[in-house]
Amino acid sequence: MGLFVTFEGPEGCGKSTQIRLLKSYLQGEGWDVLDTREPGSTPIGERVRAILLDPTCAEMVPTTEFLLFSAARAQHVAQVIRPHLARGGVVLCDRYADSSLAYQGYGHQLDLEMVRQITRFATGGLVPDLTFYLDVPVEVGLRRKSGGSGDAWNRIEQKGIAYHERVRSGYLTMAAADPGRWVVVDATQSVERVQELIRAAVRARWNGPTGEKGGTR
Ligand code: TYD
Repeated sequence: MGLFVTFEGPEGCGKSTQIRLLKSYLQGEGWDVLDTREPGSTPIGERVRAILLDPTCAEMVPTTEFLLFSAARAQHVAQVIRPHLARGGVVLCDRYADSSLAYQGYGHQLDLEMVRQITRFATGGLVPDLTFYLDVPVEVGLRRKSGGSGDAWNRIEQKGIAYHERVRSGYLTMAAADPGRWVVVDATQSVERVQELIRAAVRARWNGPTGEKGGTR
């Protein structure tokens, strides 16, 4: 089995930049690296994504939202993630099941145990080896996201500050409960510094292209 690394964090925390930098570093070291994202990354998942992020779907209830994310995830795990891990590769995933725990579970206050149970069913129990939480204060993240690219905010990002605060504290609670898997990085630091911390944590988990996976999994 390869190495499964996921990236979590609020809007505007810089996940995609960090994934791009880590991917090129790992490829330079000889790894077979796949970067992917949720929701989406399969033909079925992209269709589900379009529904989830459509501003005209405002009547969607949180339970529907969660089940759609889970449906896209089931397809992603089976069609993309597991096959790459089975080939011994590294998978870098921009959001995964912890996003559902944070946004639908903690954010929308769905029953957390039910969310965990359905997530286990959707993923067949596939849990990341390593999860980075790129932490930025909610207001900073929302400002970064709405500035910069000038992208229209999607349906999920239009929720209020209190919702995003619940999401953030949910992430921090999950990270504190499982420090063997989670690495919390202060993403208000420079891009270079954040990347250094990420690389060090990945290296600590894996000794090199011909070596065995490190860590205590
Ligand atoms: P995206 O445009 O990919 O945002 P980002 O760049 O912040 O990752 O949109 C994904 C949105 O969907 C984001 O607001 C987080 C949300 N989301 C959930 O609410 N639950 C989930 O399970 C996942 C995967 C994403």
